[in-house]
Amino acid sequence: MKISIFAATVLAVLATADAAQHHKIKLTKSTAVVPDSYIIELEDNFSGSHAQFLNSVSSKFNDAGLTMRQSYDSELFKGMSVKIKNTASSKTKRGLHHAGSTAVLNAIADSPQVRNIYPVSIIPRPKVQVISTGHTNSPDVLFADTMTQVQDTHNYGYKGKGITVGIIDTGVDYTHPALGGCFGPKCKVALGYDLVGNAYTGAANSIPVPDPDPLDACGAASGAEGHGTHVSGIVAAQDHKYNFTGVAPEAKLGMWRVFGCTGQVTDDVIIQALLMAYEAKVDIISLSLGGSSNWEEEVSSVVADRIVGKGTPVVIAASNSGADGFGQIGSPGTGRRVTTVASFDNSYFLAPYFTVDTIPKTKFNYVLASFNSASMPNGTIAASASSTTVTNDACNGVTIPSAVSGKIALVRRGTCTFDEKAGNIAKAGAIGMLVYDNAGGNAFEPSTTSNTIPVAGIGADAGAEIFKALSKGAAKGTFLTDLSPAPIPTVDTVSDFSSVGPLNENQFKPNIAGIGGQVFSTLPLYLGGYGTYSGTSMATPYVSGSIALMLQALGKKSPQYLLESLQNHAHLAPVYNGIDGLDNPIRQGAGLVQVLDAIKDHGHITPGQISFNDTANFVKSVTLKISNNGKSAITYTISNNVSMAVTPYNVAESGYTPLAPIAYSNASANIKFSARRITVKPGKTVSVRVSAIPPKTNPKDHIHYGGFIQFQASKGAKTLHVPYFGVVGNNKDLPIYDTASGFPALYDPTLTTQYTTETYVLDRSNLNGTAPAIVIRLLTGTAYIEAQLLNEKKDFVGYTETDLVYLPRNTLETGSQYLTTTWQGSYVPKGFKQTGTSVAAPDGYYYIKFRALKQLGNPSKNSDYETWTTPRIQLKN
Ligand SMILES: *[C@@H]1O[C@H](CO)[C@@H](O)[C@H](O)[C@H]1NC(C)=O
Ligand SMILES: *[C@@H]1O[C@H](CO)[C@@H](O)[C@H](O)[C@H]1NC(C)=O
Ligand SMILES: *[C@@H]1O[C@H](CO)[C@@H](O)[C@H](O)[C@H]1NC(C)=O
Ligand SMILES: *[C@@H]1O[C@H](CO)[C@@H](O)[C@H](O)[C@H]1NC(C)=O
Ligand SMILES: *[C@@H]1O[C@H](CO)[C@@H](O)[C@H](O)[C@H]1NC(C)=O
Ligand SMILES: *[C@@H]1O[C@H](CO)[C@@H](O)[C@H](O)[C@H]1NC(C)=O
Ligand SMILES: *[C@@H]1O[C@H](CO)[C@@H](O)[C@H](O)[C@H]1NC(C)=O
Repeated sequence: MKISIFAATVLAVLATADAAQHHKIKLTKSTAVVPDSYIIELEDNFSGSHAQFLNSVSSKFNDAGLTMRQSYDSELFKGMSVKIKNTASSKTKRGLHHAGSTAVLNAIADSPQVRNIYPVSIIPRPKVQVISTGHTNSPDVLFADTMTQVQDTHNYGYKGKGITVGIIDTGVDYTHPALGGCFGPKCKVALGYDLVGNAYTGAANSIPVPDPDPLDACGAASGAEGHGTHVSGIVAAQDHKYNFTGVAPEAKLGMWRVFGCTGQVTDDVIIQALLMAYEAKVDIISLSLGGSSNWEEEVSSVVADRIVGKGTPVVIAASNSGADGFGQIGSPGTGRRVTTVASFDNSYFLAPYFTVDTIPKTKFNYVLASFNSASMPNGTIAASASSTTVTNDACNGVTIPSAVSGKIALVRRGTCTFDEKAGNIAKAGAIGMLVYDNAGGNAFEPSTTSNTIPVAGIGADAGAEIFKALSKGAAKGTFLTDLSPAPIPTVDTVSDFSSVGPLNENQFKPNIAGIGGQVFSTLPLYLGGYGTYSGTSMATPYVSGSIALMLQALGKKSPQYLLESLQNHAHLAPVYNGIDGLDNPIRQGAGLVQVLDAIKDHGHITPGQISFNDTANFVKSVTLKISNNGKSAITYTISNNVSMAVTPYNVAESGYTPLAPIAYSNASANIKFSARRITVKPGKTVSVRVSAIPPKTNPKDHIHYGGFIQFQASKGAKTLHVPYFGVVGNNKDLPIYDTASGFPALYDPTLTTQYTTETYVLDRSNLNGTAPAIVIRLLTGTAYIEAQLLNEKKDFVGYTETDLVYLPRNTLETGSQYLTTTWQGSYVPKGFKQTGTSVAAPDGYYYIKFRALKQLGNPSKNSDYETWTTPRIQLKN
């Protein structure tokens, strides 16, 4: 894949000033960090106040400019996040060039009370696809409750009573009648806090202004989308007027608000919110947010995992990076024991409709393109092609009949962009364009960026029917803004946006799925009160609400038990798009929740999921324990229900640039069982050993085979499944650097000129103008990169960077295509890595060698690193 460096307008800079160089400093892993801001984790035995700690560090400097961002004093996490002034100045003159935030950071790291230091990472505001706003009087049909047994569970009387779900999100409009109308112990929204305030954006200079009220009163003009209100409604809305209920309508809610009206949040705020929700003793914590990562070692993921370890389920979105290929789970959703949620598409969504005067009694749903959202005019419809088989309809302006002038043109989707079609159609004088799907699909949103006339997408069948009507005579369309339910063709399959696992060390993620594609729920009253949104953000509260129903029905159970029960009983989805086979567990997890089965059925299997790992670390066998908590024996017949394999690369065509999105293949594993048929007596547990014989595909392809170990139950009990996957090939063989695209590479600071053979001159008196930019593109996430400084003879003399840890791979998305770092002439001498003291390098000639640890590599084995060395650099004054 050819990637142009100039495609990226803003490059993410890894280390801000010179790299902070101390072994406790876990420098950056995500591409987006807040400059000069760090999370300091203190040892458990830390005593004293955080302020005293900072004072003792500050006293070593003239002007350290240290300010506290967040402070943590929990049994689960002790420490604080701080900002250091970039121009901090030093008192100590140990003959070292020691100024700026690096010196202060190293002084913090020197304290024996400090365990780890992490940069403060930015977590983007969750992206939702807004499908429509507004409601009908029969929204229940839209809520997919029959796909998940939520409706049946309600009918049993379980509606979440006595359970509190803590949500970490953008705040909530609790003045909404469906959300109780008030805030406080007697209200539906019973708990919570606003950690940030309306104006907070997560930017470096944006200071949180906390207050005790998590209300989202941003107002429509602010640009807020009401994310937290939508999420809250999915968990627990109860609206008598429109008969709309969330998954657990009698549950209470807590809201810890971490986003302002617009903008992002930082992970130090998320950690604070996690700890606050935990201390408030909510029964479940739900987070519909995440940043790119795919490592479980991310600090917010570690805190979420520790909370699960204490017995509170934490349910987190897998993220919406399905388009970027495999291995794209966001943090904190990467936490090991966290319930990480994938999304399935719903059955119906609400769309406006139009009628055609010559086709009586039919409502055709349409979706307006959002770029120019002027309403569709009413008027005569005219076809722009002679038949529905013209594939390049309206792609060529010359062929458009003059009959469309002054009318609404009916156009087939395909061949050229919607913008091109709309441009040609507008030029021909049409007043609007209706595009019908060319592949049997339903009403859809045409993505446009420049249309001057209103454009709307309609279903293929609607297009064909209207086309036929036009051949019989003129027809007039009347466009209403009322909404009516429109079927979703991808119903009951994994949403295309849902992030694909596994994690970088082959951990099983995502774990389970909820409904997240086109979900109707509450919106703030300032946005009209109701709307349909899409995202793993929506699937996550669906699962949190499901767990609330389980907790009410089953009483206190461990997070592991609850997740396993959901996994054992989940519904499996086929791949959508014409492939005949089950979707892989690294996409659907165990499948879609089936809440009543998870509550009522007596069978239970632990573990609830299996990773057979890669070839080098192949797990030879796993023992499954099947128990029966019912009153009669259950007999299970055990088999292997294979899924499609995921093909993460097309090695022949695009090397190890991950396919975006993934592709599938038919390869499947054989599974051997120690028993084919078992009978589990009431109150007993039976063990079955399972082992896999992976398919014999080329190890270079790294296919992820998968499937579901199926326990077909005798009458009266439910069939159970344990999802599994494994990799043919070794993660360690995957290249780290995208050398085929010309990276890593050394550039001047403006990224204008690349240096390949010529000596690069770094002038210490003009760092701004001469400090080089080293641009790296990671095809594979790496746990560790260090930059070694070599002298003129290429002898190793020290480090220009130590401890760049847990880096995510780069993708093809703008903004995450590269990592960029720099060298400003200082280094940590060889032998001083543990102290991390950096000094100025003497003038002379150097090379920098970047060593990246291969996935699942041994850090102390030289051959497990991939290296790249810069051209020669001359350092001078
Ligand atoms: C606190 O714990 C750390 C790590 O175990 C240890 O190095 C340090 O000496 C301890 N400090 C005190 C005061 O016990
Ligand atoms: C509300 O929804 C429930 C469940 O779908 C249904 O049984 C009931 O008839 C509905 N009530 C109204 C007034 O529509
Ligand atoms: C089209 O006609 C309907 C029904 O009369 C009306 O509600 C709607 O506002 C009209 N649309 C426009 C753009 O005038
Ligand atoms: C896969 O093997 C590696 C190396 O032993 C190990 O670090 C990793 O945790 C394993 N993954 C799983 C999910 O067991
Ligand atoms: C595999 O699972 C799917 C979905 O549950 C089911 O429809 C199919 O019958 C199963 N296949 C076998 C061979 O049991
Ligand atoms: C799987 O195998 C079937 C039958 O051989 C074939 O038609 C299909 O294209 C294969 N699918 C994929 C994704 O390779
Ligand atoms: C650093 O260089 C950039 C352009 O490369 C320039 O815009 C900026 O003003 C310079 N800053 C200083 C402090 O010289």
